[in-house]
Amino acid sequence: MKNNWIYEVIVSTFHVRVPHAAPMGIWSEDLDTLNLAIFRDSKTLENIIKKEEFAVNIVDDIKIFYESLFNKGNIAYTPSNQINAPIIRDASAIIECKVTHIAQKENRFHIKAEIVDIRIWNKIRLVNRAKSLVLESLILATRLHHFPGRRIEETSGLSQKLHLIQCTNILWRTL
Ligand SMILES: Cc1cc2nc3c(=O)[nH]c(=O)nc-3n(C[C@H](O)[C@H](O)[C@H](O)COP(=O)(O)O)c2cc1C
Repeated sequence: MKNNWIYEVIVSTFHVRVPHAAPMGIWSEDLDTLNLAIFRDSKTLENIIKKEEFAVNIVDDIKIFYESLFNKGNIAYTPSNQINAPIIRDASAIIECKVTHIAQKENRFHIKAEIVDIRIWNKIRLVNRAKSLVLESLILATRLHHFPGRRIEETSGLSQKLHLIQCTNILWRTL
């Protein structure tokens, strides 16, 4: 993990006593604490404010990201060590966190938390959006000259990406 890089993870919490999970970005300034910025209508935020504890699940299986949003019943949990939050059974690693500070900034809440436990089961591959965005931008840059006179949005393959997401959705439902 590099200082101040944003990594995409799944944050798990308890909603009353029911396990809950959602993808979130995290970053660390010092590797002892973690930060999140969560939009105010999020259930994860509500749970974190109430319980003041949450688990960061490091997964690189993109299917778990999908399920945490659209197929929540398919996620299996186990108990954490030090906090009152569930952890995702298929995570490669987990970081257990206790909230130290919450501040509202416009429509987001910035949360700072102390790391109280880390467990690693499998090889970790942290997900960072920058690499794929750079790759997408490079692909776009090489394609622009094939579409003279077209607007940049038209060449960005947006409809193709949406189609891909729809196909993935159907595929996962049939697995
Ligand atoms: C990879 C990924 C990263 C995300 N990061 C954040 C984030 O940092 N903050 C946020 O508020 N929402 C983020 N979201 C959106 C939330 O996951 C989404 O709004 C979700 O429905 C919130 O669920 P909840 O209401 O159960 O907490 C992210 C989504 C994805 C797919």
